[in-house]
Amino acid sequence: MYYFARSGSVTRVLSGQTRRVTDPARARITLKTFGKHHWSRQHGGLHHKEDNLGASIPDSLAYPLLKALSHSKNLKTSNQIAKEAGQDVYAACEASSFLEYIGKYLDYKGKSVIDVGCGMGDLCIMLAKTGAQRVVGVDLSWDRIASARRKAVAENVQDRVTFECMNFVKEYQTLDTFDIAFSQSAFEHILSPLDCLKKIYACLSEGGVLGTIFGPLWSSPYGAHMYGFTSVPWVHFLFPERVVLRVRTERFRPDDPVERYEDVEGHLNRITVQKFMQYATQAGFEVQAFRLNPSQDRGIYKIPNALVNAIPFLRELGSLQLLAVLKKPSLRRLVG
Ligand SMILES: C[S@@+](CC[C@H](N)C(=O)[O-])C[C@H]1O[C@@H](n2cnc3c(N)ncnc32)[C@H](O)[C@@H]1O
Repeated sequence: MYYFARSGSVTRVLSGQTRRVTDPARARITLKTFGKHHWSRQHGGLHHKEDNLGASIPDSLAYPLLKALSHSKNLKTSNQIAKEAGQDVYAACEASSFLEYIGKYLDYKGKSVIDVGCGMGDLCIMLAKTGAQRVVGVDLSWDRIASARRKAVAENVQDRVTFECMNFVKEYQTLDTFDIAFSQSAFEHILSPLDCLKKIYACLSEGGVLGTIFGPLWSSPYGAHMYGFTSVPWVHFLFPERVVLRVRTERFRPDDPVERYEDVEGHLNRITVQKFMQYATQAGFEVQAFRLNPSQDRGIYKIPNALVNAIPFLRELGSLQLLAVLKKPSLRRLVG
């Protein structure tokens, strides 16, 4: 259980979920870790205390240094982003490479599928076009769901694909179960990954399978997803969080001024390989397949990637992508 201050109120973080606490006095007694961060009460208020390498660098040094190591090439306001969303010109989705890697482990043809954090629906549409019996895509973002629905009509698969705009973890409810759950590039953005895994588990039928590929993960060089304005690797460990996010506002997203990585547009939950695998087991899944950086299992990257997969220390640092296939055991197996 963790506490932190946000906009003058006290919020409690429990199992990755945030909710307001009615008794702020309870916060006074806490000094708990939040990943690599501590939240402590100082000077009459709760303050965010980082303990990464860069946290001790004074802002007067860190800020001009990071500014010099960043650029404004991708500076965009929310209006510009919304306009592009209306024109369906988001970056091309990697649905086909997702299916190339996950397809080695499971067959979705003739099966019911739910896609968690479906974005603009490319994966859902591809699944429906290539033999899935029924597909449901769920995403928080209204823009993306609107775009997904337009595409489903344009591709004539609207009878097999439905899109729901909601928070999957908090709001999604269904009486049906699914044979397969997919989630592409979303698990590092879902603020309560353990609850999400538990919810997916509940939505799967007995023997159902979750296939996911996502990343970069938090301990990898670009785990903070700040590559839109700087190529400094591990910028989130080398510079204080407030400085990184200040430069992000100035050089990348002027309409999204935030103080924590969790609050950036799209969110970041600081997930690591170890945490994800621990949550998967906690949610009740059996691990059927696990691979880091499947796209690097070829050519000159093959040997370095074998080392990354084999050596625990390198596993976190080199976790650009995580592929996992997780199975909900059948009741008979659980009882037997
Ligand atoms: C990086 S995008 C990936 C979208 C899509 N899967 C793709 O590969 O193009 C992550 C998506 O997860 C969605 N998301 C994050 N948290 C969510 C939640 N709790 N419920 C539903 N969607 C969520 C975001 O809105 C975003 O569209």
